[in-house]
Order: sequence, then C-alpha cells, then structure tokens
Amino acid sequence: MSDRVSQIQPAGGVTDRLERPVRDLRISVIDRCNYRCPYCMPEEVFGDGHQYLPRQHWLTAGEIKRVASLFVGLGVTKLRLTGGEPLLRRDIVEIVSALAQIGGVEDLALTTNASRLAGRAAQLRDAGLQRVTVSLDSLDQDVFARMNGGRGDVSTVLGGIEAAISAGFDPVKVNVMVQRGVNDHTVLPLLERFRGTGVIVRFIEYMDVGSLNGWQPEQVVPSAELLAGISERWPLEALSENYRGEVANRYRFTDGGGEIGFISSVSTPFCGDCHRARVSADGTLYTCLFANLGTNLRIPLRAGASDADLTGLLRNVWRNRGDRYSEIRGKFPAVEARVEMYRMGG
Ligand SMILES: C[S@@+](CC[C@H](N)C(=O)[O-])C[C@H]1O[C@@H](n2cnc3c(N)ncnc32)[C@H](O)[C@@H]1O
Ligand code: SF4
Repeated sequence: MSDRVSQIQPAGGVTDRLERPVRDLRISVIDRCNYRCPYCMPEEVFGDGHQYLPRQHWLTAGEIKRVASLFVGLGVTKLRLTGGEPLLRRDIVEIVSALAQIGGVEDLALTTNASRLAGRAAQLRDAGLQRVTVSLDSLDQDVFARMNGGRGDVSTVLGGIEAAISAGFDPVKVNVMVQRGVNDHTVLPLLERFRGTGVIVRFIEYMDVGSLNGWQPEQVVPSAELLAGISERWPLEALSENYRGEVANRYRFTDGGGEIGFISSVSTPFCGDCHRARVSADGTLYTCLFANLGTNLRIPLRAGASDADLTGLLRNVWRNRGDRYSEIRGKFPAVEARVEMYRMGG
C-alpha cells in the first residue's frame, strides 16, 4: 500500500441517497472457482473455453489493502474476502495479512467452499483472519455433487470446517443455499450434524443474482417455510439483532443446541439497511448485488491517483447510490445482463 494511506485522516462518514452509511466491504479476490454450482457458475457457461479476467487485472494484495483502507476512512468496519473461490488465490494469506494491518477494521472474514481450507486454516488465522464462513449445501454426497457441478466431496468440506475450528475460528458459520426440490429435504440432517458443535448454520434463499442461472421464483424456499419445518423438529426462539443491518435473522434452539440464521433477501428484502459495497477482483466497485454496472477503480489506482482523489471517487459513488433492487424486484422489468455473483463476490 502507498504510505500516503496511513497519513491521511479518516475522511469521515458518507451516506447514500437513502441515508445509508457504508459499513461493510466485500472483496472478490478472484473470478475463478474449482466448483461449478449450477446456481452460480453453471458448467455449460463456464466450460474450458471460458474467458476469465486476465491475471494482470486482479488487484494485488497492496492494491486491495489500499482500497480497503480508503473505505475504512469512509466508515467501513467490516471486510469480507470472497470470490469465486478465494482460496484459489495463491497469495490469499498475504492479502489477509495486509488487511489485518488496517486500523479500524473490527471484523475480517472470508467465505469459502472449503475445498482447500484444511491446509490453509491455521495460516489464515495466524495472518489475522478473524472469521470463516463455509458454504455447504448438503451433507448428502449426491445432493452436494448436484449442487456444485459434480466437484469435490462432503468429507473434504467437513475436514475444512474441523481444521477451521482447530485453528481457533469461533464461531465457524456454514451457509446453506436452499433450492426447492434439490436440497430442501436434506436440511434437517445437516442441522442434526452441527447442533451442539458451536457451528452456526445459516440458510440462504436462492436469489436471482446475475442472469445465467435460470432462476425461477418457484425454486425459492421462503425462510418462513423452512423455519416452520425446523421448529416442528426442534423448538426455536428468535434472537435479537447483533447490530443494525445484520443480514441474518437469528434463532436459538430452546434445548441449548445452538444458533441458526436465515438470510431472506427474496422473501424479506433488507435493502433499507444495506450498508455494503463490493469490489470485484479487477477492482470494479458495485453498490448492489444486483447491479449491472460498476465503477472502475483499477484504472485510477494504476494511473497514480492520490488517496484524496480516490476517496473523492468512492465518496461520490456512495453518495449517488439509490439501489434497492430486492425491494422492487418484480415491479419493473428485470435488467438484463446483471453482473454474476462469482464475479462481484457473494
Ligand atoms: C459466490 S460464493 C463465493 C465464495 C465461495 N466460492 C463459496 O462458495 O463460499 C458465496 C456464496 O454465495 C452463494 N450463492 C451463489 N449464488 C447464489 C444465488 N444465486 N443465490 C443465493 N446464494 C448464492 C453461495 O452459496 C455461497 O455461499
Ligand atoms: S457458489 Fe462459490 S463454490 Fe459455487 S461456483 Fe460460486 S463461487 Fe464457486
């Protein structure tokens, strides 16, 4: 990072057109993945001939640190590394260690499919990573394979979760994307496996991100339906928000089996409290998961823009933000060619 970053004073908070501050920054460090989840990177589209970003367009660890530092100056306190599959980036430990040095960051997290977590968990922890979220849609190997394009196996992911726990990540969260008729019948066994372990399972509604996955509303299992089914088996009690704008609605098993959460951006949109910016691997800034356009930060970064210039750019983009896609979903014709989740970072 440029030393200038550490010299500038925090530029002060910024709010958007709907009075929302920027608090979270999600950084996609790579647009590639070793899985082909049909809801994210379907095999038919992401075959051998697919053109990914040229590596020279990936922001370097230093550039990522610089962008993150400038966002911290605008009010960001939480950083999450994602992708594509972030652990495919060879310098992921270096990236974590760069971000861990930024003062004012209260939370540094990473989302992974855990196919390569077992060998990296301790290094990531030592580098300053605070939290890990693992995506695991089912413990049933056939269902799991169907949901990731026939790659990997459940035991490797479970090994990654164990390694993360052993490395001291607490709590480890497991994200389960639920699709009707695909993995909804495997939700209870998955919960059974993690109850009492301290792992927090969160169920995510299938979203119409991007335009390649053929999303249909009937494929969404509303959280309320899941909640009802789970409560029949194990009574649940709602928990209060940890902080304003928390995306998951939290519950605890009344028998002491632990906590679970629901992320319901389709059935219960939370745009009003969305404080999240996203930067893709090539340094494009997006202000909504459902955006079709972003702002190129890589060009000014590499053209020698000063921290003040870059902060001004970030501030302007955020001030002009009026996105609330999930709240107006279905009320207007959908925008074609929305940016894909693997690209802007899930
Ligand atoms: C895009 S992935 C990136 C990080 C890593 N590869 C992983 O799978 O954890 C992040 C999360 O986005 C979720 N995801 C991808 N496409 C989705 C969709 N259409 N609706 C809901 N969640 C989705 C995945 O299930 C995963 O938990
Ligand atoms: S959800 Fe994650 S693991 Fe699956 S294809 Fe997308 S980036 Fe890869």
